[in-house]
Amino acid sequence: MEKRFLDQLLTAKDLPSLPVVVTQVLALSNNSASSLMDYSEIIIRDVALSTQIIKLANSAYYKSRGPIVNVRQAVQFIGLSSVVPLIVVFSMKGVLSTTKSPIDLLPYWKRSVLLSCLSAFLSRYAAGVSCEEAMLAGLLQDIGVLAGCTVFPAKYHEAQNYFWSDHDKLITEENAIFGNDHSAVGPYLLEKWGIPVSIANAALSSHQVPVKEDQGGLDWCVSGSNILASCIIRGIENHNLLEEVQGALNGSWLNVAPEDVEDAAVALLGIVSETESIFEVAILPDDIEKMLKYVSDENS
Ligand SMILES: [Fe+2]
Repeated sequence: MEKRFLDQLLTAKDLPSLPVVVTQVLALSNNSASSLMDYSEIIIRDVALSTQIIKLANSAYYKSRGPIVNVRQAVQFIGLSSVVPLIVVFSMKGVLSTTKSPIDLLPYWKRSVLLSCLSAFLSRYAAGVSCEEAMLAGLLQDIGVLAGCTVFPAKYHEAQNYFWSDHDKLITEENAIFGNDHSAVGPYLLEKWGIPVSIANAALSSHQVPVKEDQGGLDWCVSGSNILASCIIRGIENHNLLEEVQGALNGSWLNVAPEDVEDAAVALLGIVSETESIFEVAILPDDIEKMLKYVSDENS
């Protein structure tokens, strides 16, 4: 991004900011003496956040033996190091709702939620990356768009048409206006928020083409989620979702054995479906459960 745009953006008073609960949790994470009780006491003050953490602990992301009914149990079960990125993830809907912009941000948010669960899915193939870190990095990779819509809404008026449907076109539009795209801006905002540098670096490289040699890294999960998201969105719009997902999972950048592709596609769409429920946002077609059940029955 040209320096004049970047300076204007980073000094704007309406730039999105993190809720207090998140800055408190990030501060706790920087203190090795912080306890489970410290985290629970802060989280419990935020009802929406508490509900989402408990819901996630009971979801397919984690396989708990019994029902988890309160924040303390959920934090203990998920683990302190994993709960910190999750709190940032769940706070983002609040960040979005308090962001002042005339632009309709729902398409941006839907794609970000999709990116988040796809990055989490890919962490299964990246032994060195935690699911929660991948989820956070996936969700925040396009945060530069949110900053741009807040500070330069008129410039995003045309580009908003591509938030959901055509990420490459969005990037082209941004390049034409700013001389760079949102992946160059997002890391500055994340740094300002105190988000770990690994997450900011993943945003910076999110538009690069993933290669098999990088499998195992957070950057690979995030850039891979971008590829998968475009395939899924195309599949939703063309009514050939399963074929698009299978085609994407057959890509040379991802090591899925040919005989495992169909199962992986069903697992991936199952995670997206579960994530829709956790974030309360509609992404997949209404008949997705019927479609997944049909494929499972055929394979059994
Ligand atoms: Fe992006």
